[in-house]
Amino acid sequence: MRKKIIAGNWKMNKNLSESINLVSEIKKNLPENLNADVLVCPPFTSLETVHSMIKDTPVKLGAQNMYFEDSGAFTGEISANMLKSVGCEFVILGHSERRHIFGESDEMINKKIKQAVKNGLNPVFCVGETLNERENGRAFEVIEDQITKGLTGISEDEFSNVVIAYEPVWAIGTGKTASPEQAQEIHKFIRELISKMYSTSSAENVRILYGGSVKPNNAASLLNENDIDGALVGGACLQAESFVQIIEAAG
Ligand code: 13P
Repeated sequence: MRKKIIAGNWKMNKNLSESINLVSEIKKNLPENLNADVLVCPPFTSLETVHSMIKDTPVKLGAQNMYFEDSGAFTGEISANMLKSVGCEFVILGHSERRHIFGESDEMINKKIKQAVKNGLNPVFCVGETLNERENGRAFEVIEDQITKGLTGISEDEFSNVVIAYEPVWAIGTGKTASPEQAQEIHKFIRELISKMYSTSSAENVRILYGGSVKPNNAASLLNENDIDGALVGGACLQAESFVQIIEAAG
């Protein structure tokens, strides 16, 4: 049985004191019998403080990005080692906002995934089609392309640390969620692809999260689908109440 993951991607929100408030509220309201892994991904400036607040709780820490080099003259960038040193276990890579606003290519994302696994970080590797690609019947092709390029050269052993997140670009921040059937169809396709690329056991073990306007009122129906192993939540994770409701929806 795959353990579900409810992950909050704070994006560029919450300064330090706001981060402290949000994490205190999440901690206070966390269900006692937690059946899912809970992950918070605050901005870089809050990572260390948030880590000190959650280190004795089941909540895990992730970053939203990192660079693929070890160190050096890369002004403004953050390394895997730096993330590890402040308690990160996960790192979101290939988010559509990184792809579309900051021009990250599949090749760059592939290098980042390699660097993350080499340094013992678990990548949350994001893929997803645009509205135009979906309307042109290209969703499966785009997802297959992103996954094969993103995972090029990643061994099966390294892949065991990868979490995949399917985030249709048209559903992010728009309030338009993919229906559970639409999401399930892609998640099943991704699992079959992983089976072909690695093995049936890797396919059975990999956790595939759905992201895109996940809210307390739609989380349970999405999380009920066979191949949906959790949620990557944007807007609704910025308030403890809605984030905790989504955690509760995971069972
Ligand atoms: P929203 O939940 O705000 O649509 O964001 C989803 C997302 O991009 C999470 O990474």
